[in-house]
Amino acid sequence: MERIQTAINKARAQREREQTASEQVLREQPVPVAPALARDAEVPHGGDAALKDGPAPRAAWSEFRPMMPDADHLLRNRIMTLHGGRNSVLYDQLRTKVLQTMRANGWKRLAITSPAPGCGKSTVILNLAFSLARQPDLYTILLEMDLRRPSLGGLLGLRTEKGIASWLEGRIGFAQQAACYNFNLAFALCHQPRSDASDLLLQGRTGAALTQMEERYQPDLMLFDMPPLQANDDMMAFASQVDCVLIVAGAEQSTIKQIDACERDLAQQTNVMGVILNKCTHLDTDSGYGYYDYAK
Ligand SMILES: Nc1ncnc2c1ncn2[C@@H]1O[C@H](COP(=O)(O)OP(=O)(O)OP(=O)(O)O)[C@@H](O)[C@H]1O
Ligand SMILES: [Mg+2]
Repeated sequence: MERIQTAINKARAQREREQTASEQVLREQPVPVAPALARDAEVPHGGDAALKDGPAPRAAWSEFRPMMPDADHLLRNRIMTLHGGRNSVLYDQLRTKVLQTMRANGWKRLAITSPAPGCGKSTVILNLAFSLARQPDLYTILLEMDLRRPSLGGLLGLRTEKGIASWLEGRIGFAQQAACYNFNLAFALCHQPRSDASDLLLQGRTGAALTQMEERYQPDLMLFDMPPLQANDDMMAFASQVDCVLIVAGAEQSTIKQIDACERDLAQQTNVMGVILNKCTHLDTDSGYGYYDYAK
């Protein structure tokens, strides 16, 4: 009997040792964890900032060539919104108005034009674009549609080997000519002047190319730098492709009659969001423009 009790005690002790050992093994097993985000593999340039500050970047945007403009070069060209601050306040206000109006109306495509050349369209559109890029949840694509007299590459200090016209003609994909700043602002620039601009803008393929690009890259906003309305028929040829248009008038440069005619012609094709009075020397700011809202 005593031997049996001893055997039972031994067996119990053995069982307890085995149980303790197996619990120990279990405790020492690495705790399974959710797989870590494959950040390095998935996130495009600048993407870490997006993970911290906003939603995950749109994956397809990693196809674009990264670009980093020189802040001094931009400033010399009156582009002041790269880093925000005092000089970008008026452009940031313009950004807010544009965003509110576009969201309220469900618009995504905004063209900027003027009655005559040199009113400041390209300066305004670049300032607006960099102001938008400081919003980490907004993805903007700026397309240079002033194909006869392109200037954005020079203003940005950006050289392109291939341009937007090749994409519009279907010879290359959008990503092959696009450059991207700060993960959320893409540029499609004109490589060299095209004298057949309105033919290109009017062709059916242009509308299809824009739609396909929009579907793939899902931009929140598309900005179009256009030629002046009076110089040629490019703006009118393209007007039906956009949701709305902003008119940039030059103070002491554009007449009321010109602005009125511009607004009337454009209103037949698209929505006129408003008029920016640029180069106002009497304003107490360095950006020098005022804004008149047309949109309801
Ligand atoms: N608010 C401003 N105050 C003073 N000068 C300005 C202002 N905005 C733009 N400019 C200057 O006016 C000139 C024309 O500007 P910009 O190229 O932006 O005009 P544009 O309307 O795009 O011209 P184009 O019709 O040739 O495309 C540039 O030298 C630019 O620096
Ligand atoms: Mg221009």
